[in-house]
Amino acid sequence: MSVPPPIDVRGLRKVFWQTTTGQAVIAIDQLDLTIAPREVLAIVGQTGCGKSTFFDLMIGLEAPTEGSIRIGDKYPHADFDHFRGKIATVFQQDRLLPWRSALDNAKLPLELIGMDEDEQRKRALTWLKRLGLGQFTNAYPHELSGGMRQRVAIARAFVVQPDILLADEAFGHLDEVTAAELRETFLALARECGSTAILITHQLEEAISVGDRIVVFGKSAKLLADIHVAQWPKSKYALLREAIQFTLQNNRLDPRLKRIGAKAKRKKKR
Ligand SMILES: Nc1ncnc2c1ncn2[C@@H]1O[C@H](COP(=O)(O)OP(=O)(O)OP(=O)(O)O)[C@@H](O)[C@H]1O
Ligand SMILES: [Mg+2]
Repeated sequence: MSVPPPIDVRGLRKVFWQTTTGQAVIAIDQLDLTIAPREVLAIVGQTGCGKSTFFDLMIGLEAPTEGSIRIGDKYPHADFDHFRGKIATVFQQDRLLPWRSALDNAKLPLELIGMDEDEQRKRALTWLKRLGLGQFTNAYPHELSGGMRQRVAIARAFVVQPDILLADEAFGHLDEVTAAELRETFLALARECGSTAILITHQLEEAISVGDRIVVFGKSAKLLADIHVAQWPKSKYALLREAIQFTLQNNRLDPRLKRIGAKAKRKKKR
């Protein structure tokens, strides 16, 4: 299992020119963020604060206006081909191709990297089975439930054994039980594969249960808070939730986040 490269975001800025109004929209402004290999990170932030734009930059779909995202010693937009099969995404909409079976959807990324046909099939079947879809490999998307379709999308993300997994509100539209179950499966598989995982979510419970780290974005992806969840005892999760909520609502760091983080750091040093 190879170790994913670290992610280093420096002075990142992304400006869009809106075609209808001709006005500039600053989606991301001066973002600095370092993400360690195998870290599991949740991003929360109000609507329109640049979360999905950050992912578009991560997968090289968009180029930064200023600053950079460096992954290892490469840049997703400039080195687009290098990252083929190394970064995988799961979105809110499953984005399955309706004319392809579950199996053919799941093996699509392997086709794109030119893997041997037998190996493609074997890998896709393995992942579909792991996601509980062993009986549905020949089914078409319209024959599957929303949760099942999202499982196919997750299998499609894992088949390449990606260094980096990105999930953009991938579970929020499902009922709570299905969402919690899928999120747990997703996280367990990500840890097992040793991938770095970044999840965008609107649900604070989800962010807290994700694990290692929560970053809170304010407008234009300003980093309002960077929380290491392990520093918080489970008994204080309600307080943590409240403090994140406050930070989101007021677009500034809740002082309680600072205090607890600092306290925990002092304790660790001793
Ligand atoms: N291609 C584009 N052209 C013009 N403006 C864009 C484009 N993509 C995003 N924007 C603008 O950039 C800002 C950030 O959008 P983004 O989709 O990143 O927000 P978000 O944090 O993902 O929001 P949500 O939580 O609602 O998904 C918004 O003001 C949006 O209108
Ligand atoms: Mg979004």
